Amino acid sequence: MTAATTLGSVAVAKSSPGLTLILAASVPLLGIGKNNALPWRLSGEIKYFKQVTTRVDPSCPEKPNAIIMGRKTWDSIPARFRPLPDRINVVLTRGNQAAIDTTTSGKDNVLVASSLDDAIDKVGQKAAHIFVIGGAQIYCQALDHPLTQRILLTEVNSTDPEGVAPIDCDTYFDKFPWYPQSAVKPTSKDGGELQWKRQSYEDLKQFVGDQVTSLQPGPIAEKAYTYEFTLWERMA
Ligand SMILES: NC(=O)c1ccc[n+]([C@@H]2O[C@H](COP(=O)([O-])OP(=O)(O)OC[C@H]3O[C@@H](n4cnc5c(N)ncnc54)[C@H](OP(=O)(O)O)[C@@H]3O)[C@@H](O)[C@H]2O)c1
Repeated sequence: MTAATTLGSVAVAKSSPGLTLILAASVPLLGIGKNNALPWRLSGEIKYFKQVTTRVDPSCPEKPNAIIMGRKTWDSIPARFRPLPDRINVVLTRGNQAAIDTTTSGKDNVLVASSLDDAIDKVGQKAAHIFVIGGAQIYCQALDHPLTQRILLTEVNSTDPEGVAPIDCDTYFDKFPWYPQSAVKPTSKDGGELQWKRQSYEDLKQFVGDQVTSLQPGPIAEKAYTYEFTLWERMA
């Protein structure tokens, strides 16, 4: 590890790339999961997730990105699809690390870590970007981490003809405060002491770069849903 500073409870590499949360959530309640799976299957959203998390950073083309996830999210990925290719997969567990089923991989791009800081420390300088890919427990912890700079949040709405029936979820990213049930979004510059601010589509486009061909301005219709890709940045 290179020179270190104390962030949170342990020392993490000073030059570690910042953390970006990436998730799809129903609005305004921010439901993200049901029965340890996604509540929906949206092919355009899956493609976006894959392109964003695997894109090569032109400033360090030799480095892959890292994705950090909780053990339950790892378990939710069918064994034949994990580890997610072309990314350093990092799985968090407080339990027996040897019990994480990484045996299907036979590859060296799976790391197991005992905390978020341990995960960041293990990734070290090896990744161009670090994405936190869920689930709710890990998003909630990462939201408060000093290295977390951005949230790529895909807002999902139901187009249920009966009206605004909430999407059926049992897992929520309810710590992110900007979607109260009133659905008031503090996006204005006059919004006072904003900690997180929703950025423009142009800012999102600039952040994800040209390789992410699935990026479109929303709302995008698919099946019984519409969804919109958004970028939020930490202001303070
Ligand atoms: N909509 C989306 O974009 C999206 C993305 C990802 C996941 N999801 C959904 O989210 C749901 C899963 O979320 P979840 O909150 O139940 O589980 P999770 O966050 O994926 O995993 C929780 C597990 O992570 C480990 N863990 C948590 N905090 C830790 C820490 N500080 N240090 C070490 N290990 C730690 C623990 O594993 P041990 O029990 O092994 O100790 C814990 O049980 C699923 O429904 C999934 O489909 C949705």
